[in-house]
Amino acid sequence: MTITTKRLSLQTMSTEIVVSGIRSTGHLHLGNYFGAIQNYLKMQDTYNCYFFVADYHALTTHPDPKLLRENVFRVLAENIASGLDPEKVALYAQSDVPEIPELYLMLNMLAYKGELEKVPTFKDKVRQQPENVNAGLLTYPVLMAADILIHKGAKVPVGKDQEQHLEMARNFAARFNKRYGEDFFPEPQVFRFSQDAMKIMSLDGNGKMSKSENVNATIYLSDSDDVIRKKIMKAKTDGGPTEPNSEMPDYISNLFVLLNAMSATETSQSYRDAFNNCNIRYGDMKKQLAEDMVAFVSPIREKAFELQQDHDMLRKILKAGAEKARASASETIEGARKLIGINYY
Ligand code: TYM
Repeated sequence: MTITTKRLSLQTMSTEIVVSGIRSTGHLHLGNYFGAIQNYLKMQDTYNCYFFVADYHALTTHPDPKLLRENVFRVLAENIASGLDPEKVALYAQSDVPEIPELYLMLNMLAYKGELEKVPTFKDKVRQQPENVNAGLLTYPVLMAADILIHKGAKVPVGKDQEQHLEMARNFAARFNKRYGEDFFPEPQVFRFSQDAMKIMSLDGNGKMSKSENVNATIYLSDSDDVIRKKIMKAKTDGGPTEPNSEMPDYISNLFVLLNAMSATETSQSYRDAFNNCNIRYGDMKKQLAEDMVAFVSPIREKAFELQQDHDMLRKILKAGAEKARASASETIEGARKLIGINYY
């Protein structure tokens, strides 16, 4: 019986490799959950998955070492509390895999200053922190490409804000292949099950939910029930539509994305009908959304809190994850060294 089950699960397992990461720069929020983690959960049973905490990427803003460490354990705990199973996937810290910076160095030789300077996220950072425009910030997309290509990742579940970085990863992969050997790296593609959640806006309608910005209009997986209720009740709405079947403003459609994600189908449909019939009461809709959100977030928050009390166990998970990741990474780096001509023994 066990053998049959095992054979069946092997048959349904795809050989395609999935890679994705989350920076350890603060508390995870609904954007991270619906833009990334939800896809991880759906993929963990059917793909060969590598998910990691991007602690090297967090260094671009020079975080306090104690805080960075705490954030790594929290991101890890919040991923597991959301349902990620370290038995099914490789779950590790980026800095535990030294093959990643080695590949990053190799890929840096194929990445050009001009193209890196044009990346919108780099330009944003230059505007936000003109006093700290470091080389790590400029080569951020190269490190991301190394994260993915080190496992020959083909599918990358990420939100909309990472699409440009993925395009660069494809370019670096293609450049490496052209120079050193056809088809060594796949060209990784963005992957998601639903288009809806690729960008969760902040509740005040200004920008996206974020770990470090729009904090009062972002729902964090660590928010208390009361904080969740308060934030939702303050979400931006308006007087409602005056014409039947009007187009939704983006801050309203964002509330519907959240309602769709966490309320019963009939509930979200009835509010959608009310919107289309111009008799929607946003106060009622927000109360409903707040309660459904509390029911959704609170078990994750509590589980994550519990997990964070046991650093020994989290460390064991990180160690086992790093072992799985390094087994795959060392194979890739050996192949890359050979192709480049830096294998001497
Ligand atoms: P990070 O840490 O900013 O975000 C982690 C994941 O959450 C998604 N996301 C969102 N999705 C929808 N709505 C939002 N408001 C929202 N905010 C964040 C992000 O798109 C991402 O999928 N550079 C990456 C981390 C990284 C990585 C990689 C990802 C490093 N190496 C290799 C994939 C592959 C980042 O800063 O994500």
